[in-house]
Amino acid sequence: MNTKKVVINPEAMDKSLIREMGEILKNGGLVSFPTETVYGLGANALDAEAVSGIFRAKGRPGDNPLIVHLADAKDVATVAREIPEAAEKLFAHFSPGPLTVILKKRPEIPEVVTAGLDTVAVRIPSHPIARELILSSGVPIAAPSSNLSGKPSPTKAEHVIVDMDGRVDAIIDGGECSVGLESTVIDVTGEYPTILRPGGVTPKEISAVLGSVRLDKHILKSVGAAEQPRCPGMKYRHYAPDADVVVFEGEPDKVYEKICEALRTNEKKPVGVLCLGKKDYDADVVLSVGVDSRAYAQKLFDALREFDRLGVKQIFAEFSIDDGFGLAVQNRLYKSAGNHVIHVE
Ligand code: TXA
Ligand code: MG
Repeated sequence: MNTKKVVINPEAMDKSLIREMGEILKNGGLVSFPTETVYGLGANALDAEAVSGIFRAKGRPGDNPLIVHLADAKDVATVAREIPEAAEKLFAHFSPGPLTVILKKRPEIPEVVTAGLDTVAVRIPSHPIARELILSSGVPIAAPSSNLSGKPSPTKAEHVIVDMDGRVDAIIDGGECSVGLESTVIDVTGEYPTILRPGGVTPKEISAVLGSVRLDKHILKSVGAAEQPRCPGMKYRHYAPDADVVVFEGEPDKVYEKICEALRTNEKKPVGVLCLGKKDYDADVVLSVGVDSRAYAQKLFDALREFDRLGVKQIFAEFSIDDGFGLAVQNRLYKSAGNHVIHVE
């Protein structure tokens, strides 16, 4: 397949190009597009055949459901059959933005979108290109992150091109994503609102609106072979670069000491370190991700892909929890490391 690549400036959008991309979606094609979190791979959510194409292009397991993207919170009732009060509050406070709400689905949503579940994941992205594209397609857009299954999500068009060139109809380059990791997924269909995946809206922000919120037990834990997690995506290896990743978590000075020690005995070369702020590690590649978890979130996937590009075989990653995007970064790091985490005392 010949993939059409277009550049659209989110501040001065070329409406005719957006219309052309919207037509491709409406007619059953696949288009990669920027959102404020990560790049998405979109298809018409009402067209089962188009949505199957997403699974083929990504190599995604068929039991992992997709998020349906809408241009406006007023359209939620077109895809969900019940909108509980908690959902109303969440959409009122956080939409458009990096939040996905699990609701009971309407029968019009094909089974392939929801992997046969009775629920549907709904998100209203704030990125202007994503919103204009959805509007111009005139349909809800099913979209996972636009990476090959298992790889880090793309935060730049060049990441999408590496994974998806030749596999999709079009790729829109709209610049770098500002959040850098995916939306928070929250399920409001049960007795207690529960965060299934931490992301661009923090548990603290959600608690402030709902009074309280639970965290799913699989956020920082691997899923056992016999377990069926509420968020099917949780059971797959994710965000994984080619290199082996080890996370060193704890107080920053002690983490530094431990990584220096690990570098002295490490035999897998080249070796890279992912660190908070500037550090003088004796490694082949040192990538700095800024000083707090929001900056870490924004650069994390780009850094993992950069290590791959440079052929790095072993990555040591610093981590220190804070109450910004701390939990979301921690979740992605743990997954990229296959839960190989060293807690530094
Ligand atoms: O920020 C984002 O959410 C990005 C952008 C493109 O919007 N999308 C994204 O999609 O991260 P994806 O497919 O990579 O992740 C969707 C997650 C998966 O872990 C999936 O299992 C979960 O949402 N999910 C989808 N539908 C669900 C449902 N009905 N119940 C529980 N979990 C669901
Ligand atoms: Mg994904």
